[in-house]
Amino acid sequence: MKILVSGTGYVGLVTAVCLAEKGHNVVCYDVVKEKIDMLNQGKSPIYEAGLEELMQKNKERIIYTYNKKEAYKDLDVIFIGVGTPERVDGSANLDYIYAVADDIVENINKDCLVVMKSTVPIGTNYKVEKYIQDRLKGKHRIEIASNPEFLAQGTAVIDTLEAQRIIIGTHSKWAEKILKEIYKDFEKSVIVSTDINSAEMIKYASNDFLALKISYINEIANLCEALGANIEDVTLGMGLDKRIGNKFLNAGIGYGGSCFPKDTKALHWLAKINECELKTVKAAIDVNQNQKIRLIEKSKKYYEHLKGINVAVLGLAFKPGTDDLREAPSIINVEYLENNGANIKAWDPIAQKNFSKIFPQINYCDTIDDTIKDADICFIFTEWEQIKKYDISKYEKLMRKAVILDGRNCYKLDDVKQYNIIYESIGRKSIENIKK
Ligand SMILES: NC(=O)c1ccc[n+]([C@@H]2O[C@H](COP(=O)([O-])OP(=O)(O)OC[C@H]3O[C@@H](n4cnc5c(N)ncnc54)[C@H](O)[C@@H]3O)[C@@H](O)[C@H]2O)c1
Repeated sequence: MKILVSGTGYVGLVTAVCLAEKGHNVVCYDVVKEKIDMLNQGKSPIYEAGLEELMQKNKERIIYTYNKKEAYKDLDVIFIGVGTPERVDGSANLDYIYAVADDIVENINKDCLVVMKSTVPIGTNYKVEKYIQDRLKGKHRIEIASNPEFLAQGTAVIDTLEAQRIIIGTHSKWAEKILKEIYKDFEKSVIVSTDINSAEMIKYASNDFLALKISYINEIANLCEALGANIEDVTLGMGLDKRIGNKFLNAGIGYGGSCFPKDTKALHWLAKINECELKTVKAAIDVNQNQKIRLIEKSKKYYEHLKGINVAVLGLAFKPGTDDLREAPSIINVEYLENNGANIKAWDPIAQKNFSKIFPQINYCDTIDDTIKDADICFIFTEWEQIKKYDISKYEKLMRKAVILDGRNCYKLDDVKQYNIIYESIGRKSIENIKK
């Protein structure tokens, strides 16, 4: 079976490499030449643990190309893994999907199955299938299948190789059989066969549910602060209940990334145009927006104005294990700090390079020590292990005034209490061991 994966981002590249790991021959196509050049040198354009090692191991089975004619020739299956970003009205932008559809129409030379890995609004697969069929005018038979992706950035490789479930949404036995054949060696995964619309809905309903869980616990955390309860004890107690579970129950400064923000807005938008209202999803979106700036609100307790204040920023990525900055809370916060005249020094183990493309003017440091030296306040936006393991006494020693605002609850309150620092986190008591 000759397989093409169109789009070599987080989903496309990881899918392609994992399919190769399971013994398939895969062609990877992307419109960005620099990405393909890097891939041909054995380097991944994105950071994902274990990805480059698997690329190397399976290099005999993977072809990387930006030659469209070559990419789309003699295919049995085409996976679509291009982006579906958010439009201003919250709907999903499907331009990249239709660009691939055009490429399929113009380039395929035999019958094939098109498999949608990208997250697309319910009903899109049928529309794309019709779009392609109308233009092919019977020249070749194509059919579409929905096979949404559930990987999480940072653990994308293992999430794919050991996916908890593989959703196959098809409207023919032929398509279902092909996909089952492709996934036959994914022994750890449960394969669920559905119709196409249900498969599309499973993806949105899953992401929006997780976003809701995060926003819910963040609201409870804010209430804990007001009422003197401790969110970590609360979530421990809640999470032991198997009906609730302890995943996605960490309070913080909100979700970011390329999926939850856009997928909540896209489903809300889709419901609205179908005269349904998703009140819970709307609430999750609103809560998250406010939560992202919670530390700025807290900072006002210590500094009325930020002009001329030395600010240390630890963690830029939207979560640990990735260099992705899409919708990262760090962005909106650094923008605010900049606009208010703060002197900013920032550190992140892998997302610094990407961040400097958005904020070239701030100072980037190689170490946490350098970042916090002489700072008047420190913001923590990502729970990197390096930050969690950092010697807390150094905040006291190196900062001009040790005010730490931790948006990811990186430290235990009992550990922090031993030092002369001010420490604010999410859903827990403040520690004020020095004068304001
Ligand atoms: N990133 C995630 O964690 C994740 C998880 C599950 C699902 N998804 C969904 O998967 C889809 C892809 O997400 P991503 O994060 O991998 O996006 P991405 O932006 O990392 O990658 C998209 C890639 O597609 C390429 N591309 C654009 N137009 C193209 C074309 N016409 N032909 C070939 N390549 C083209 C881009 O150059 C880019 O490399 C989205 O719909 C997203 O919602 C993402």
